[in-house]
Amino acid sequence: MARVIGSEQVNEVRARGRQLLEILPGDIVTDLAQEAASRLGIELREGPLERPAVIKTDGNTNLRRGLYRRNPRWVAPQASATREPRRIGKLALIGAGGVGANIAHLIANADAARDIVLIDIAPGLAEATALDLQHSTGISRSRAQISGSTDLATVEGADIVVVTAGRPRTPGMSRSDLIDVNRRVIYAAAEAIRTRAPDAIIIVVTNPLDEMTTEMLQATEFPRERVLGMAGTLDSSRFRAALAKAADVETRDVEAITLGSHGDEMVPVPSRSTIKGRPLDVFLSADMIEACVKDAVTGGGQVVALKKTGSATLAPAHATVELIDHLRGARAGSVPVSVKLEGEYGLHDVVLGVPCHLGANGLVSVEELTLTENEREALHAAALAVQSRLAP
Ligand code: LAC
Repeated sequence: MARVIGSEQVNEVRARGRQLLEILPGDIVTDLAQEAASRLGIELREGPLERPAVIKTDGNTNLRRGLYRRNPRWVAPQASATREPRRIGKLALIGAGGVGANIAHLIANADAARDIVLIDIAPGLAEATALDLQHSTGISRSRAQISGSTDLATVEGADIVVVTAGRPRTPGMSRSDLIDVNRRVIYAAAEAIRTRAPDAIIIVVTNPLDEMTTEMLQATEFPRERVLGMAGTLDSSRFRAALAKAADVETRDVEAITLGSHGDEMVPVPSRSTIKGRPLDVFLSADMIEACVKDAVTGGGQVVALKKTGSATLAPAHATVELIDHLRGARAGSVPVSVKLEGEYGLHDVVLGVPCHLGANGLVSVEELTLTENEREALHAAALAVQSRLAP
């Protein structure tokens, strides 16, 4: 639409500190505008003018540029050839209680598996949970096919099998009180996995965790790379949550890790933990750090005491999915996993929580952190405790 350019428009250009007014074809320029322009030194130029292309950069590039300006010697870390996270073919969940059901839910919502099979000896439980979850896919739009069964044979061909089946603790029980009853569950699961899903990666969640992971290794005779125990991700999450609350910061500001056994001999590692990238004692007193350590160690028991009829389900499910995400390439870096140690940390033939790198075939490597003397001693004490509980 043609515009009338008067002295007002020229004054406006001047007020904005510009020296050029673009006149488009069809614009009417009044004499007063001409006069004002020559008086104010504003050029009236015939347009349309060529505009420099806007250079679009993403947030990462901007950040890199900012960091480079501060330190020109800084070399930007190269993103690893970022591949799309893999979608799992078949995920089998042995145990359709609170943890199994929540894992199924999280994996379905993330559309991270093609088939999710829930298996439970309680008649109808796995089938009902599978049906319930399948009904939700009309909203979540997940492509997952979810089924339920009482038959362990349905682990057939699974790529990843998560074992949560077994008795949970009740108030007053320690995880190790469950050794005998849950060992039988692990042996039944192991037999089905060994014969029907011989290439699967197993994640053990059943308690007592380090002992049951050892039993699973022995019963399946799978290599240690494919028998992983989930505990460190859960305990580390509890430790981070406690530290964030104590320091009144967001959990994303906290890095913290726990090693050792999933029980009283857990080894939270304050020396390797940070809040906003700084050592814990910048924010917390020694007593407060100790209270957070205690919170991580007793976190599971606190939930059991409140529930009375079972143990935690939500945090353990998230912590299991964290491992699955490492296996399928949706997360990178090291993550605490219970694996059989073969000399790492000076320990042999014992399953304990240590930081690991995971990949499509399971364990890639164990990372050996430098620990304080106390932390190292605690790790060795945990190894002895696990070994003694398994001794015949
Ligand atoms: C817990 C159980 C799952 O720590 O061991 O909550």
